[in-house]
Amino acid sequence: MITYDLILPSVYHLQRMGTVGNINVCALDSAPLKQLKSSPELAEAFPGQDFRAFPSIQEPVEHKFPEQYREVIAGLKPRQMVVVALPDQLHYKAVMECLNRDQHVLCVKPLVLKYEEAVQIEKAAFKKGLFVGVEYHKRFDRRSLIARRSYESKKLGKFIVGEAKLIEPYFYRSSNFQNWFTCENTDPFVYIGCHYVDLVCFITGLKPVEVSVSGIKGRFPNGNQGYMWSIGKVRFGNGALLSLTNGLGYPDRAAGSNEQCLQMYFEGTGETGMINHDDQFRGVEHSFLESTGCAGSCFNYINPDFFRLVPWEGEGFKPVGYGFESIAASVATVFQMEGEVRKMTPSESLSRRRQMIRKIDKQGIIATPANSSYNELVVEAARLSILNDGEWAAIDYGPNPSARLRRSR
Ligand SMILES: NC(=O)c1ccc[n+]([C@@H]2O[C@H](COP(=O)([O-])OP(=O)(O)OC[C@H]3O[C@@H](n4cnc5c(N)ncnc54)[C@H](O)[C@@H]3O)[C@@H](O)[C@H]2O)c1
Repeated sequence: MITYDLILPSVYHLQRMGTVGNINVCALDSAPLKQLKSSPELAEAFPGQDFRAFPSIQEPVEHKFPEQYREVIAGLKPRQMVVVALPDQLHYKAVMECLNRDQHVLCVKPLVLKYEEAVQIEKAAFKKGLFVGVEYHKRFDRRSLIARRSYESKKLGKFIVGEAKLIEPYFYRSSNFQNWFTCENTDPFVYIGCHYVDLVCFITGLKPVEVSVSGIKGRFPNGNQGYMWSIGKVRFGNGALLSLTNGLGYPDRAAGSNEQCLQMYFEGTGETGMINHDDQFRGVEHSFLESTGCAGSCFNYINPDFFRLVPWEGEGFKPVGYGFESIAASVATVFQMEGEVRKMTPSESLSRRRQMIRKIDKQGIIATPANSSYNELVVEAARLSILNDGEWAAIDYGPNPSARLRRSR
């Protein structure tokens, strides 16, 4: 649950630093809320901090509350911030609900599953001067930011070919994944490959124009069929190719916690450039006395860069890493935006907020519907391709951008 692993601890820290006020957390039922409230890890890191749970944790787990988040959002003052961390297929409805209720939004990736929906969100948000950020946290990894700067300043050459890998642990197969990670809904490319597609776009500014994804099916413990592995190829506007290997199968007994890396080659004049990011082994190894490591292992590669709760000069522990920085960037954006317009008339405020939104879109550091909706087109193309045995799907950026199988041209 990303709310447990990243969002709530980040927001708790921002609360104690004064950027965030009251926190409400909604879920489908009381189970995840109880888990958040009773976590010794969170209590130790954020002593005395709490949130209001919807539904109440006293509710029996069997009682479901699929619509309660609407009431909670309706009860907020205008232009607060809502973090949407629901299953992918619910993002569109929830984000539109937030916008209709005049709320700024931070949504976990993928924003939505259809390009058309991303456009609708962008328009609805801009009309009301509301910020919508998409939480692609790999953009905030220092190595990505350094690579982007080097590419922009033409130190590397032109991207020509690359290879990325992201393989999640085997134990995911026995988690809640088995209920929704089925062939008709998603696949490893769409779930995790998209991080590296976004990253290559982020570093180079290039747009993906063709996608081919082949999958290998397998059975989850409950018998459901899903794509356990995939290999994808993405062609970019300048002809460059990126290959992506993804899966749910990094060995539980390995040093983990997953496998991930990116290598990119660039053409220069009379020479080539390269970047090579090992995003898994970042030079830190811990061997624990007991099986307290990832998936019950003892020897682990520790990633100090994504998200860790570490001692600091205050009470408890503080979050560090690009996961935290990514969330903090969106929260700070809204905080600054609202601070700036506080004393303005409604029309001055709207115009200033729109100006700020366009600046964020253009800057392209925080992912927004306007600057990252190629990701929705890539997802649409990838789904077409994997369900048609790896047939290439083309992305058309014409007046009505869309993805379609190449053979149907
Ligand atoms: N690296 C990343 O950026 C990253 C990593 C993990 C997950 N995610 C994304 O985060 C989202 C959630 O993934 P997860 O792994 O946390 O899933 P999860 O199943 O653990 O959590 C989903 C939560 O949504 C709640 N929910 C479902 N329907 C609801 C409703 N109608 N009203 C209120 N709450 C409802 C559930 O109670 C649950 O707490 C997905 O979109 C996923 O793709 C992103």
